[in-house]
Amino acid sequence: MGSKQKIGLIGGGQIGGNLALLSMQKQLGDVVLYDIPAAEGLVKGKALDINQLAAVDGYDCRVTGTTDWKDVAGSDVVIITAGMPRKPGMTREDLLEVNLKIMKDVASNVKTHCPNAFVINVANPLDAMVYALFKITGFKKHQVLGMAGVLDTARFKFFVAEALNVSIRDIEALVLGGHGDDMVPLLRHSTVGGVPLTELLRKDALDAIVDRTRKGGGELVALYKTGSAYFAPAASAIAMAESFVFDRKRVLPAAALLEGQYGIKDFFMGVPVQIGAGGVEKVIELQLNDAEKAELQKSFASVKKTVDEVKL
Ligand code: NAD
Ligand code: LAC
Repeated sequence: MGSKQKIGLIGGGQIGGNLALLSMQKQLGDVVLYDIPAAEGLVKGKALDINQLAAVDGYDCRVTGTTDWKDVAGSDVVIITAGMPRKPGMTREDLLEVNLKIMKDVASNVKTHCPNAFVINVANPLDAMVYALFKITGFKKHQVLGMAGVLDTARFKFFVAEALNVSIRDIEALVLGGHGDDMVPLLRHSTVGGVPLTELLRKDALDAIVDRTRKGGGELVALYKTGSAYFAPAASAIAMAESFVFDRKRVLPAAALLEGQYGIKDFFMGVPVQIGAGGVEKVIELQLNDAEKAELQKSFASVKKTVDEVKL
């Protein structure tokens, strides 16, 4: 039997705490929940609280709360949520300056302490932050992914399930592109029980679902007022980590390094990837039609505009 995996969670806030809980419940491995000294009580409290939950449900993993990077050293998986969330009226891109400063600190520590880790970034603006993470760590492309497509696709699936009153289990869908308001839900690839979605919903209903998906983050920011979504984002990142830890080889949408696929080179964008013990084992290039290609290029233009502002 192999030894337990070590899961390093960088940022112990709203998403970080839920990551620690879900890691425990799925028994991904022993968890280290790291945050800055100002949040020492937060991470040590969440760790103690979740360890006591383990006693209720009988989990043999443990969570350690820490502000010392040495405790994170040697993590097999690192999930980064260190960064400010947006507030009402803000775009994700408005977070670039403050979160890039944080990413420079975090990425250099990940490089030092977790050189062999599979790293999932969650912090926004997602596509620019995962690009900065990749460049600062100098990691190999199979080690680095950004989480957004799993969340955006989950939102799309939920809205379809609500519109059709069907089980969410039977909905297949795919949202590509940047994690922004011009993300690309691929209607042609979406089905309910194998039935094309375009045969089940009228165009105006489909357009409304696409629009609500694109604005899904902002809808929750407006409701929460003090931050953004955290339950579904945490579950989305854990789905990716789980595929790595248990070598599930799931094919999931995620921000991966493109090296010419989709006509894009040296940027991270949301595309279908295979995730297994080798990290990003495959980047899958779909045969898109002209309209889909145009939408993806529009999304890429938004990503490129933000990444071009990243000064390392
Ligand atoms: P939060 O404010 O609850 O938690 C962020 C944590 O980061 C805080 O505890 C803070 O102390 C910590 N932090 C700050 N600087 C740090 C550093 N140098 N090292 C380690 N930790 C540090 O925010 P949240 O709601 O958990 O969101 C976290 C990030 O995730 C935000 O940038 C948000 O925009 C983003 N987000 C992304 C998605 C997505 O789909 N990719 C979805 C939701 C939120
Ligand atoms: C947001 C998350 C969903 O900023 O990216 O709303």
